[in-house]
Amino acid sequence: MTEPLVLGIETSCDETGVGIVRGTTLLADAVASSVDSHARYGGVVPEIASRAHLESMIPTIERACATAGVRLEDVDALAVTAGPGLAGALLVGVASAKALALGLGKPIYGVNHLAAHVCVDQLEHGLLEQPSIALLVSGGHSSLLLVPDVTEDVVQLGQTMDDAAGEAFDKVARVLGLPFPGGPYVDAAAQLGDPTAIDFPRGLMTAKDLEKHRFDVSFSGLKTAVARWVERETKAGNAVMVNDVAASFQEAVVDVLLRKAIDACLSQGVGTLVIGGGVAANSRLRAVATQRCAEHDITLRIPSPKLCTDNGAMVAALGSELVRRGRETSQLDFGTDSSMNISKVVVR
Ligand code: KG4
Ligand code: ZN
Repeated sequence: MTEPLVLGIETSCDETGVGIVRGTTLLADAVASSVDSHARYGGVVPEIASRAHLESMIPTIERACATAGVRLEDVDALAVTAGPGLAGALLVGVASAKALALGLGKPIYGVNHLAAHVCVDQLEHGLLEQPSIALLVSGGHSSLLLVPDVTEDVVQLGQTMDDAAGEAFDKVARVLGLPFPGGPYVDAAAQLGDPTAIDFPRGLMTAKDLEKHRFDVSFSGLKTAVARWVERETKAGNAVMVNDVAASFQEAVVDVLLRKAIDACLSQGVGTLVIGGGVAANSRLRAVATQRCAEHDITLRIPSPKLCTDNGAMVAALGSELVRRGRETSQLDFGTDSSMNISKVVVR
């Protein structure tokens, strides 16, 4: 028997993503991003994102089908991000997916975006070990998860107390005069800088903090420290060493994220760490994770950068895993949930 063909739709933020998978084989990953329309505002504008999803939805579905060489009628099941994310943006994806499900007479899963970020790794590295620890770092979330079963049992160990990791990258980029979204620019600048040039603070790492917030992270103190540093240098008439600031800031973020993630693996007795979300595209995070996981005998799984940022393939990957495990589908009247908790993988 051939494996099921699953189409996934993602619209939680500014990417309209439509992915098609057969089992764990990726057939198409079509993405239309509205990121350029938000650049001049320095952040994603929800209403602009929703309108862009509306305009891009049908062409992106068509592009995905053409790339995969399949017809919509061939699809066995649909999956769509039901949350968390921007309310209006989520609605466009969910309404589109429901229309397809109804028109084609196929089952549908309304799924959790965070679980999809974890599950996408199956498209490149095979089935996830159970349990795994997942570190999700993007513009909207920073979470450390214990994942016994990505289709129905995901436990949050920690999260950010303030900014998400990607948000911190974007804000620091702005302070340094780099374009939006700042992560890739900070990454590039950091490659030319000295990560030990400035000793920026590591949030929630003191013994006292660890008692209460062992697996939580915080980036607002770091972000403020960078802004103060730049301000002081500018006032003193010194040229701001953008590359050194970027490298030192990035080092602080990467150090804290990985110390917490590895502590989670060791303390929970879990031998696999999966990293996902847009910040998982960061070159320094990937390099330090490789080194530290090897030191602690932890298997590291990171999808290729294109699958780390928001896309439809990740939603299709989770849909496919739900089908493979025979999990119950969603009712056609399920709603979106902009603050959907990770303890819920599928809305029913
Ligand atoms: O997962 P994603 O595409 O969307 C959200 O769900 O937020 O992540 C986007 C975030 C942005 O904050 C962006 O600056 C960051 O990921 N990002 C990076 C890199 N590439 C993207 N941050 C650090 N280094 C990168 N190379
Ligand atoms: Zn995301």
